[in-house]
Amino acid sequence: MSDKPFLTDINTLRARARRHIEQGAVTEGYRGDRETVIRILNEALATEIVCVLRYKRHHFMASGINAQSVAAEFLQHATEEQAHADEIAGRIVQLGGAPNFSPEGLLTRSHAEYVEGDSLEDMIKEDLVAERIAIDSYREMIAYLGNDDPTTRRMLEGILAMEEEHADDLVSLLEELGV
Ligand SMILES: [Fe+2]
Ligand SMILES: [Fe+2]
Repeated sequence: MSDKPFLTDINTLRARARRHIEQGAVTEGYRGDRETVIRILNEALATEIVCVLRYKRHHFMASGINAQSVAAEFLQHATEEQAHADEIAGRIVQLGGAPNFSPEGLLTRSHAEYVEGDSLEDMIKEDLVAERIAIDSYREMIAYLGNDDPTTRRMLEGILAMEEEHADDLVSLLEELGV
């Protein structure tokens, strides 16, 4: 057994923290590949924005066909996707990057698609497909990050859990519709 301490000794830790203080939360101990992490977070941001737009469209269209409970569910999902987008944008800035909110290329950056859907059933199914895409891509990002960036990983784990809830809600809506 080595008697090497598990933690970096306090003097080294203190000295390291004083270097590059302009990098804020990003310390020398940050093990992620910052550029890659920022890029994948920007893809996740685009995905969330596309999901907000799709759910908003579905919310207003469902309101028009008098499906109040489904319309309300769509609105709730839109609000939650917006909160995810905000969390992700905040983390990008913490990592020293810039969140990409440009409408140009938004759909190319996004993992999920924007499908309007003609009927209530189509809308729910398209939302379910989008959630399943988001679930798989978040799971991959989490695996990629491993222990290199626990803060980003934890944020994505929280978002993943909510996308799973969304998918589950949508399956229930399909069951209620009897399809
Ligand atoms: Fe989301
Ligand atoms: Fe979602």
